[in-house]
Amino acid sequence: MSIHILGIFGSLRQESSNQGLVKLAQKLAPADVTFTLYDKIGSLPFYNEDLEDSSRTPTSIIEWRNLVESADALFIAAPEYNFGPSAVLKNAIDWATRPMGQHALSGKIISLISSSGGTGGAHMIEQLGGILALLGNTVISEPNGQIPKGAARISANGSTSDPAIEALVGDRVQALVDTYKSLGK
Ligand SMILES: Cc1cc2nc3c(=O)[nH]c(=O)nc-3n(C[C@H](O)[C@H](O)[C@H](O)COP(=O)(O)O)c2cc1C
Repeated sequence: MSIHILGIFGSLRQESSNQGLVKLAQKLAPADVTFTLYDKIGSLPFYNEDLEDSSRTPTSIIEWRNLVESADALFIAAPEYNFGPSAVLKNAIDWATRPMGQHALSGKIISLISSSGGTGGAHMIEQLGGILALLGNTVISEPNGQIPKGAARISANGSTSDPAIEALVGDRVQALVDTYKSLGK
């Protein structure tokens, strides 16, 4: 039983540590997992309902929705900004939830972790995890996904000298696979 995981990071910073977490997850994924890394979140326009008219929908949005649609599970790593999710990530989520009633972001298994400042993303994980659950997804919350002051410990290419971070990311990838199998998918 093969699983398709889509990796998403919620920071546009070139040296983003959350990008590094997703790259590490891709590296640690078992051989039978297809892991696609999405690195174009910054190319999505701001959500605008006028663009839902199919003759006006940008190709970047169509590609994004198709990727979410085709994934069994999402591995999201994102910073906390002012006690909430980053605007680029929330924007991408809003696009993935349209058109209403037939959207792509439901029925997925989702792992959400955060390399942030002092809080380790506690507020962001609570808020965004709640939103993703309300949208009809299964959100994995164990082991704890908060990584305080992560930018000093994870590079954008996914290398880290902290074994606890590597263990957390590996455990979360495995949790996605195990949950997928336990749900009989
Ligand atoms: C506008 C802004 C607001 C921030 N707010 C918080 C916050 O509320 N809590 C926190 O722990 N870190 C906060 N941070 C720190 C970031 O989460 C941290 O720098 C993170 O590592 C950035 O992720 P990246 O390395 O993937 O770019 C904030 C940073 C910025 C730029």
